[in-house]
Amino acid sequence: MEWFAARFAICTAPTHAQRVWCTAGAVVADHLAPVAYPDARFATRLLWWDRHQVAARAEAAQLRLFATEAAELAAAATDRSSPTLACAPPQTSTAPCQSASGDAWRPLVLTEGDGDDEAVLAAVRADPAVAVRDGVADQRGELIALQPSCPVELLAEPPRWVYYPWRQALVRLLGPAGFRRLRHDRNRNKLTDAEQQHAAANTVGVVGLSVGHTIAHTLALEGLCGRLVLADFDEIAISNLNRLPADVFDLGVNKAVATARRLAELDPYLPVDVWPHGVDADVLDAFLADVDVVIEECDSLDIKLSLRDAARHRRVPVLMETSDRGLLDVERFDTEPDRPAFHGLVAGLTADDLAGLTTRAKAPYVLSILEPGQLSARMAGSMAEIDYTVTTWPQLGGEVALGGASVAAALRRLARGQALPSGRLRLDLDAALDELAPPAQPAHLHDAAPVPRPVAPDDPHEAIAHAAHLAPSGGNTQPWALALDDDELRLWVDHTKSSTLDQGFRGSYTALGAALLNARAAASAHARLGPIAFKPRTDGHDDEVVATMAFGDELDLDLAELSSWVADRHTNRKPGEPAVVAPATVEALRAAAAREGGVAHVVTDRETLAACATALAESDRLRYLTPWLHAELMSELRWPGHDALESGIDVRTLELDAAERAKLAVATRADVMAHLSAWDAGAALGEITHERVVSSSALVAVTVTGTEPAAYVRGGAALERVWLEAQRAGLGVQPVSPVSIYALADADYVALVGAQRAPQLRALDQRLCRLLGLGDGEQLVLLLRLSHASAASLPSGRQPLEEVLVRFRRTGPSQPASM
Ligand SMILES: Cc1cc2nc3c(=O)[nH]c(=O)nc-3n(C[C@H](O)[C@H](O)[C@H](O)COP(=O)(O)O)c2cc1C
Repeated sequence: MEWFAARFAICTAPTHAQRVWCTAGAVVADHLAPVAYPDARFATRLLWWDRHQVAARAEAAQLRLFATEAAELAAAATDRSSPTLACAPPQTSTAPCQSASGDAWRPLVLTEGDGDDEAVLAAVRADPAVAVRDGVADQRGELIALQPSCPVELLAEPPRWVYYPWRQALVRLLGPAGFRRLRHDRNRNKLTDAEQQHAAANTVGVVGLSVGHTIAHTLALEGLCGRLVLADFDEIAISNLNRLPADVFDLGVNKAVATARRLAELDPYLPVDVWPHGVDADVLDAFLADVDVVIEECDSLDIKLSLRDAARHRRVPVLMETSDRGLLDVERFDTEPDRPAFHGLVAGLTADDLAGLTTRAKAPYVLSILEPGQLSARMAGSMAEIDYTVTTWPQLGGEVALGGASVAAALRRLARGQALPSGRLRLDLDAALDELAPPAQPAHLHDAAPVPRPVAPDDPHEAIAHAAHLAPSGGNTQPWALALDDDELRLWVDHTKSSTLDQGFRGSYTALGAALLNARAAASAHARLGPIAFKPRTDGHDDEVVATMAFGDELDLDLAELSSWVADRHTNRKPGEPAVVAPATVEALRAAAAREGGVAHVVTDRETLAACATALAESDRLRYLTPWLHAELMSELRWPGHDALESGIDVRTLELDAAERAKLAVATRADVMAHLSAWDAGAALGEITHERVVSSSALVAVTVTGTEPAAYVRGGAALERVWLEAQRAGLGVQPVSPVSIYALADADYVALVGAQRAPQLRALDQRLCRLLGLGDGEQLVLLLRLSHASAASLPSGRQPLEEVLVRFRRTGPSQPASM
């Protein structure tokens, strides 16, 4: 046509060749009956080209070839001065398309610098009717701002020009990889990158582009397919505009073409094929040839049945959404090749029984498929009114939109590798709205009274046991058992109160040591202080110890003085104002630890504090992301109004503001943690600890040498002495235990966070020990943050003393059997 400067060309072709010619812009003369030429096997039709319309109708690849050929012809004409070749191009315009009508749906993607594409681009740009938009600088800015940052190759990808013939618009966009990364960015983490890639491998066929229009668009929005094949013979009419996202510019346009245009305007890089003549029994097999999932939304019952037969044959799953009470059908012919169509609801019915029925005649079959008792009353009533008071069955835009959403939800499950069995469900929004109710109000934590602090008993020995019971313990488990007779107080570890963090009961022994120090301080105040001893347990745990404090008349004035702080000692988790800790206080803390055979490493340097905060925050993250540690952590929390507050951590003592409480409400959810763990994300889980540590004035690492239980008991005493001393100096004290605080061997790290994360935890532990300045052989007993903060809001609870204390006579029958 270029050669002859002809506007029209015609040819004839049998059915199988027609599609190929159509890709080059041919139009099948549907209004002329086919002829059996050259014999009865062929239904040969007339096809024609309009040179002014070719660009609008031809596929992009063909158009490119035309442009190249035209350029070559023009070059040849100049070379040879051939009068034939010099014939003029069409006068109307220089752009490849002059019309917004026609059947074009493929955008022309053009690469700058590519010879052929440049020729087309020049022609398009030269057309004054073509609108040009270049927003690539903003798009690139958005791409650069993405989290996590894009690889440099993506940023270096050349942009493309995209020509939309039906819009007569030329748009400059990011290249395909950058465009895809940016367009799908907000899908994450509802769909991960891997899940999106999985979805992009799928070709989805859609038959019937009324409801199918919305579904195809929703799937494309979410990136739930890598290619779409759309089939519909019908055209958009005004009566469709109550439910499709089409518009008046689409009137008269084939429904599949209109959908393909919408998709191209959403994402020009998404491959779409259009079957504008729809599908029938003869071509279904070809239609399904490379389709992975088919969405069936057509009106013809015979095609519905034929399509299921073909899908069963090709093992393609079929999904159908019917816009009434959110009805969704999934038929997994891929995994169930013997499955009857429509779940067996119309057994025995064949496509031949249904061909060519009027809408009214179809209604009884439609009713059987949709279950008459389950249709909405308005739909069921309307079915009986077809041809009397309504033209066809009603459909609403909102219900069609819900269909897009439900099919997308089903395909998301496939992308995520989740189960999607065959079956039927109804997402009935009306029924859901019947359930409208106010949400449950969050509990007002401060309504519940704190547990009153137990009052010290009058009996001096019991007062000493009571002081022991006021000691700190990990998770406030109070893991000590106490026994009292006239001569001594015995303390040992209650194994039932241990946890994964409490490896080798080292945390429990630390708490026991703190309890022992409290007992000694109270005994000093009561002038009953006596020597301490450690004896092996006699109940089969002979590698563990029972600590005893004999009642005597020793005097330790320092301890007696500290005893007045025992009742008031508490954990203060409030953020502080970083300020200097007086050198005298630092010295007093070091001396306190040394008095009990421990060492206090005091860190006040802000840079080191910040580095420790980062390490501790990461440790918290690992704790939240490890299912068993998370479960244990949550089991420590006590919610006032729901839980008894005598042990565990009353959440009010966490001193969280409203935003932090909201974060905690999310962090309590194991399902959320499972996702964060799978994405290796969750940096925010360590934020509270990070913020608290950097608000502190110092970190104090209390250490001992030795790993045996008695060493940790000594360490616990050192810790408690440091704590009392710090509170005496007016500082708030909060332990900030790294998750691996009591890990010694490789197996301990594995037990804590599993084999995969164990090396990471070990490295974190080593980093923290270096930052705190721990020497070889030194064991961390506890890490404390000291802050200049206002007083804690409320004290922690304690179990009644009777529950942890037994009194016995040395020779009597009530002597504890095991100890
Ligand atoms: C071994 C041990 C580990 C602890 N770890 C933490 C911790 O990581 N975070 C925290 O806020 N408190 C921690 N604590 C403090 C306890 O939660 C606190 O002592 C307990 O809830 C009782 O409260 P009280 O100290 O106010 O009496 C720990 C205490 C001990 C003895």
